[in-house]
Amino acid sequence: MTAPAPVLRVRNLVKEYGEGDARVRALRGVSLDVERGDYVAIMGASGSGKSTLMNILGCLDVPSSGTYLIDGADVGRLDEHQLAILRNRRVGFVFQSFNLIPRMSALANVELPLVYGGVGQAERRSRALAALDQVGLTDRVHHEPNQLSGGQQQRVAVARALVTAPALLLADEPTGNLDTASTRDVLEILDRLSESGRTIVLITHEDDVAAHAERVIRLVDGEIVEDRRQSPVDGLPPRAAASEPV
Ligand SMILES: Nc1ncnc2c1ncn2[C@@H]1O[C@H](COP(=O)(O)OP(=O)(O)OP(=O)(O)O)[C@@H](O)[C@H]1O
Ligand SMILES: [Mg+2]
Repeated sequence: MTAPAPVLRVRNLVKEYGEGDARVRALRGVSLDVERGDYVAIMGASGSGKSTLMNILGCLDVPSSGTYLIDGADVGRLDEHQLAILRNRRVGFVFQSFNLIPRMSALANVELPLVYGGVGQAERRSRALAALDQVGLTDRVHHEPNQLSGGQQQRVAVARALVTAPALLLADEPTGNLDTASTRDVLEILDRLSESGRTIVLITHEDDVAAHAERVIRLVDGEIVEDRRQSPVDGLPPRAAASEPV
């Protein structure tokens, strides 16, 4: 029997933007594997290449050279149609700026990836409701984004990312626009998802966010300079203890 393919297998990724004097090498040969169930934080200063890497991993952009496999599929060898399917079914995204569709309910936003995936209406509805339940928003399903707090909007975005049961959850600074309490809510949800076996790759430049992950990868100028495992902080304190003043 062969071992299951890692969720991500990345080899020598290089990304260059621009031409001539304006050329920027945003990634200079990045290699890494991410196994199923791993919770990885990618850290690095502004401009170190974090979003560039995430956009490539999420099939939103293509590398200048190098290879990467998602769930065993060699992304560079897929045609547009296969790539669209991979993006829709295997990867869930959470962005710093939520990226919800305005004037559509939370429920409709979460159903959207299933609409693109061709899932029928009844199943769409029940899966979207279950995803919203997972992020604690059953009482807000008919609210539109501008009727929700930032933290609630980000929880809708997490539900939308999860609703397709993706192999990989990618989050680029998911708490970057949130206050302390909402940050804690979102991190708690990610902790719970990690405990239930989801594979998560999160980008952050905050140490206390990265502390929730099991593995920390540090980028400097488009290169991995550190890749270490750590014991994540206990992200799920008893509710009573969490709300006590410190
Ligand atoms: N579309 C683009 N065209 C040209 N250069 C780009 C483009 N996108 C990113 N870059 C450059 O590539 C480098 C890496 O950018 P990237 O957005 O990946 O950084 P980052 O680590 O996500 O930073 P931040 O923490 O500020 O979000 C930077 O020098 C940036 O200026
Ligand atoms: Mg970025």
